[in-house]
Amino acid sequence: MTAAESLFRKEFGAEPAGLWAAPGRVNLIGEHTDYNEGFVLPFALPQRTIAAVGPAPAGEWTVCSTFDAQSDHPAATLDRTEDSSRVSFGVTEPGEVTGWAAYAAGIVWALRDAGFDVPGARIALDSEVPVGSGLSSSAALESSVLTALIDLGGLDLPLELRPALAQRAENVYVGAPTGILDQSASIRCQAGRALFLDCRSYEIKQIPFDLAAEGLAILVINSNAPHQHVDGEYGARRKSCEEAARILGVPALRDVPLEGLADALAKLDDDVMRRRVRHIVTEDARVLDVVATLRGDGDVRAIGPVLTAGHASLRDDFQISTDLLDLVVDAAVAAGAYGARMVGGGFGGSAIALVDADRLDEITAAIVRRFTAAAPAAPRTFVAVPSAGAHRLG
Ligand code: GLA
Repeated sequence: MTAAESLFRKEFGAEPAGLWAAPGRVNLIGEHTDYNEGFVLPFALPQRTIAAVGPAPAGEWTVCSTFDAQSDHPAATLDRTEDSSRVSFGVTEPGEVTGWAAYAAGIVWALRDAGFDVPGARIALDSEVPVGSGLSSSAALESSVLTALIDLGGLDLPLELRPALAQRAENVYVGAPTGILDQSASIRCQAGRALFLDCRSYEIKQIPFDLAAEGLAILVINSNAPHQHVDGEYGARRKSCEEAARILGVPALRDVPLEGLADALAKLDDDVMRRRVRHIVTEDARVLDVVATLRGDGDVRAIGPVLTAGHASLRDDFQISTDLLDLVVDAAVAAGAYGARMVGGGFGGSAIALVDADRLDEITAAIVRRFTAAAPAAPRTFVAVPSAGAHRLG
């Protein structure tokens, strides 16, 4: 029995009507491009949030969880809670429910706001996605609750429209100005594939991504440094990009082509803004580059240097890396990884490294050695296998 089911029984003294799972994600490449209407290429992790859900009277929702929730999102600071905690709410307006439960209340609000008759529900949550690790534990929470409520209420909301609704819950209800990357990954990813998403049209292509067949693996290294003091930083990056687009006279930075970068930079006076623009424009190009390699007949290893170049851009131009993440990337490449980069919103969280599967232990050990010489605790590491998006378990 899953921990979510046991919690449901304990808290509600009944059996849940069903179980729903939604995963965390790793973004292979395409960081901060989502709110610039550009491209991203995430894949879903095997780690997921499980929601055990049962009916409740109309207009009543109760959520409880096993996790000590703290947002891994750059713009939300959540209360820490002891053991399992339980929150009940009726029809609310944005901001009324706070802490981790805001992500569930936000989904109820966004569904109702879109005109859906949301069924009352009791929800018990358990998460395997490490919190504060830049692996989207909050999108996993949102997506598990959303999928459960849609199924339970028989709501007619096609898969392709779900990420934007979950993003709205986060932007408007929770108040975090994030893009659509995380929710799209948690909802639309498929096992064995990376999700190539156009964040303007929401058009997707499922790109076969079977690293094991190539003798390769993606190692995730969690620096154990949760995002801190980043509310302002994430919002500031977003503002700077939007302001640059306005000055350049384009709807979004996605509309600046790589060939037009030098001209665009020449039109901007501010050095910081020029760096932000350079990151976004080159990052979109890197996503297209990686997609072309994965879809071609060439060697998948060729994406490695592109990942490392993406890290350099996040470090030097977007300026959202940390010393520890830089150290992890350097150590990975020095130990023989084909490429490595930090992932997610920045200022902490995790990095990924593309390695030969048969050198995994050796490269992990080398990274851990360098890391522990510089930090008080060892990083947590695991191999990321591209897994399924949100679905009903039973
Ligand atoms: C966070 C946000 C996403 C995206 C990434 C950076 O994970 O939630 O929308 O902007 O940062 O790529």
